[in-house]
Amino acid sequence: MCAPIYVPTSDAFFADGTCMNVPRSAPALDRNCNTPTGPRQQVNKITSYIDGSNVYGSSAAELIKLRNPNSPEYMAVTDGNNLPPNNDTSACTLTVQGESCSNAGDSRVNVVPSLGSYHTLFVQEHNRIVNLLKGLGWTDPEELFQEARKINIAQIQHITYNEFLSWLLTRTVLQQNNLIITGSRTTFFTGYDPTINTDIANDFGIAYRIGHTWIPSQMKLQTDFPETSDINDPDVKNIEDTYHNPHMLYMRGRTGSNRLVKWLTEGRCPRTDRLLEDGARNKLFLKNGVSFDLAALNINRGREHGIPPYWKYRTELCGETLVDPSSWSSMTLHDNITIALLKSVYQSPMDIDLWTGAITESISTAVIGQTLTCIFLAQFKALRNGDRYWFERPEPEGFSLAKLAGIKQTSLAAVLCANVYDASFVIPQSAFIPGDVRNVFRPCSEIQKLDLSPWSRSVKRNLDTGKDDFENKLVHLLLEILKEGETGDVKK
Ligand code: HEM
Repeated sequence: MCAPIYVPTSDAFFADGTCMNVPRSAPALDRNCNTPTGPRQQVNKITSYIDGSNVYGSSAAELIKLRNPNSPEYMAVTDGNNLPPNNDTSACTLTVQGESCSNAGDSRVNVVPSLGSYHTLFVQEHNRIVNLLKGLGWTDPEELFQEARKINIAQIQHITYNEFLSWLLTRTVLQQNNLIITGSRTTFFTGYDPTINTDIANDFGIAYRIGHTWIPSQMKLQTDFPETSDINDPDVKNIEDTYHNPHMLYMRGRTGSNRLVKWLTEGRCPRTDRLLEDGARNKLFLKNGVSFDLAALNINRGREHGIPPYWKYRTELCGETLVDPSSWSSMTLHDNITIALLKSVYQSPMDIDLWTGAITESISTAVIGQTLTCIFLAQFKALRNGDRYWFERPEPEGFSLAKLAGIKQTSLAAVLCANVYDASFVIPQSAFIPGDVRNVFRPCSEIQKLDLSPWSRSVKRNLDTGKDDFENKLVHLLLEILKEGETGDVKK
């Protein structure tokens, strides 16, 4: 079944009378795995929780293919510390012999090499944590794998809420909504509620495509040479030449992945606004002269999924009172120029699609408008409060307070410093935003990092934590004997 997009005659790029061939999203079964009788719903490709499923897959069957078969404590990587190859050559478009599509927890790893490079970073981080745990006395491969995975996921959760959401929603909004991750000396998170629906809300899946306004028109490998956007520079590629093509990862002696991560860190992405770069708006997935418009796909997908119009979110989810939603005077969250543009394409403000209305709002928090803030807060609250394995919960799902404090030392900058930069590299404390007086640059050697000392399996640490393992029991026994010896009451 298709939901084609017909190109209007006024379009500046796509040819008159053509249409974009858009398949409908796959329908979901109901909770009892039967064909639903109610409205059609869609399925997620990966788990909804923030649980590193892009790294570890969303099922045991997927995970087994991603682990190193010879040393199962590690995730599989190729020689250059890159993702393992995907034998399915149709997973991407190969243009150079000897190159392969990648295999990761999320098949979208092959959409653009920059996305793949971030998947790779957290696979590398898993393997680094395994090595650190080995240095702390951990030996059992399965235990090593599971603990490294748990720590890696905890880092991803911490970075997402403590750094990314602090930028996207601001710390003030996080504080007001009780979503703040407090400093290292903390108590556990006690708000877990198993009744919360942790699905990705269908409207969130449309609204969160605000990220499409951040897609740059070019991709570049970071090199030691001066910054350039010259397309004759072999390290620079127009984004339309990188879709589904892993070639950049293979460049410069297969160091492309980490060089892309560096470029993403050191460069700036386009502003969060209603504008998409040409490479996403006109040349998405360009192949043999055929391409897509990502903005049109987003709007079309919202309609295909049956998402209510923008004004309904203002009133029903975000609690605004609109005296007359059919009047353009109800558009109080948009500036006049934007309202004029919206009037030129929508007959009534009640027709405005969610994605269109939300991404064009004037900014109310750090980067986004009021309605996006409200939709994102609802989703990110559910993903924390409904997650049994949320990293701030006590053991066994979470960690001891000492371990939690060790995890809260981490940041994206710390992960980058540990995997792609030298100790002398100077990086902004928060890698999500450009460095300045409030976000000072520091050498990697001075960036606070994941502290795994509470994981040490040395005798002293086990006594401190009361961990009930063989070593610990042995030491307790010896101490008992010594104590009893002191009182002259040694058992024979
Ligand atoms: C080069 C970068 C990117 C490309 C090429 C890309 C492309 C796409 C495409 C083709 C779709 C499906 C469109 C459809 O048929 O409905 C999609 C969906 C989506 N994208 Fe992106 N995207 C990129 C970056 C981002 C970013 C940075 C974000 C957010 C931070 C984002 C968020 C989403 C979301 C939430 C969906 C919906 C997923 C779902 O419903 O399952 N994307 N993207």
